[in-house]
Amino acid sequence: MSNRIITSLDIGSTFVRVIVCEVDIDGCLKIIGSAERPSTGLRRGVVVNIEATVRAINSVVEDAEMMSGLDITDCWIGIGGSHVTGLNSRGVVGISGKKKNTRDREIGEEDIERVIDAAKAIVIPTDKQILEVIPQQFKVDDQKGIKNPLDMIGVRLESDVHIITCTVTGAQNLIKCVNRAGLRVNELILQTLAAGSAVLTPEEMELGVVLIDIGGGTTDILVYVDGTPYSTYTIPAGGTQVTSDISILKNISIENAEKIKIDNGCCWETMMDVNESVVIPGVGGRPPITIPRSQILTIVKPRMEEIFNMVSYHIDTLNLPRTLGGGVVITGGTAQLAGIVELANHILKLPARLGSPLKKPEVSGFVEEYRTPSYATVIGLALEGERRLGSDTNEHGSDSQHKEKTGFFKRIKNLFKEFT
Ligand SMILES: Nc1ncnc2c1ncn2[C@@H]1O[C@H](COP(=O)(O)OP(=O)(O)OP(=O)(O)O)[C@@H](O)[C@H]1O
Ligand SMILES: [Mg+2]
Repeated sequence: MSNRIITSLDIGSTFVRVIVCEVDIDGCLKIIGSAERPSTGLRRGVVVNIEATVRAINSVVEDAEMMSGLDITDCWIGIGGSHVTGLNSRGVVGISGKKKNTRDREIGEEDIERVIDAAKAIVIPTDKQILEVIPQQFKVDDQKGIKNPLDMIGVRLESDVHIITCTVTGAQNLIKCVNRAGLRVNELILQTLAAGSAVLTPEEMELGVVLIDIGGGTTDILVYVDGTPYSTYTIPAGGTQVTSDISILKNISIENAEKIKIDNGCCWETMMDVNESVVIPGVGGRPPITIPRSQILTIVKPRMEEIFNMVSYHIDTLNLPRTLGGGVVITGGTAQLAGIVELANHILKLPARLGSPLKKPEVSGFVEEYRTPSYATVIGLALEGERRLGSDTNEHGSDSQHKEKTGFFKRIKNLFKEFT
């Protein structure tokens, strides 16, 4: 029997990336194909040009099919950006008791489903839809902090959940683009949740950590407390602004500004030598000029400071129940900007590190080339996709099988597996 295949697609504001993985009998992924192409059809994570987006998806999929020698039929896709929001909610139910004719009120799967449904019963604007409902903790009578209440005895069951919503049109347009490119969408997954599963350690999540994905169009934040997501937030700024600042202030094309940012951008003074210089190409036949590298820093640093100040303000508004012992992990393409870790550490007053996909037994195959923050989301999407599909099957999932495997309770059970 042939191995299962997982394909994930990260449709970003600046790049579209795909990876194709073969899943072995133990549920481990082996990357056998990948591709990336510039993306022009999205602004701040939202599709604004269907045709351009379909074109980019078509070309990455073609490249990945060629590389893997497979025909890609379905994929897991990420969703993020300004239209995604998160909120915390609580549900309470009386325990019905799964053994109907005994007096023991033992918590069954239906009780857990009911209490999560109760927490989900919030007023959501009609233009929004629920993307994820992630249980944070359960309370059985007076006992708090329970991760999996199944089979416990009690009278009253409470659940705290983190609910992530997105606009209905935002999700539909993304799915439409993927369908038009000839692929079926298995599920939409929050991009930061995916990136988190690729770059964060379980200890960091448990201690509390801020994941900051600084892409091209947006900076997406996911705060973990006690091992589970606590806050989802997006800042409408990213690396594209830095490039456009350089282009405007130095009177050069976007392409040249992007190259200067990548080769010479820096946002921490002590990482630069005072004698370093940068050549700025001349426009319209004018000769190039040489400027000190520190001038690039004076353009790049304020934009990054602005982003981290907004992150800091957001964290302050959360009134977190405990300190973030896991610190800050920065991922996404812009995380590669020199000095970003130092700047984040300085502004957020938390230990910071770069978030590249971690070495995990669950992923193999050309992995070293993908160990960069740019690939965190697409690798995480494949990991999340496999986790949601459940590692207890080794068959190619038909649509109905697939639905069952990705059923809501199945996902919650998989979450429990992670906690325990
Ligand atoms: N070495 C580097 N130094 C600085 N910036 C970089 C580097 N490499 C890539 N970038 C920047 O990273 C950004 C792209 O990041 P990424 O690929 O994560 O974005 P995206 O996923 O397409 O966008 P978004 O997540 O905002 O929708 C671009 O602005 C690019 O200039
Ligand atoms: Mg991205």
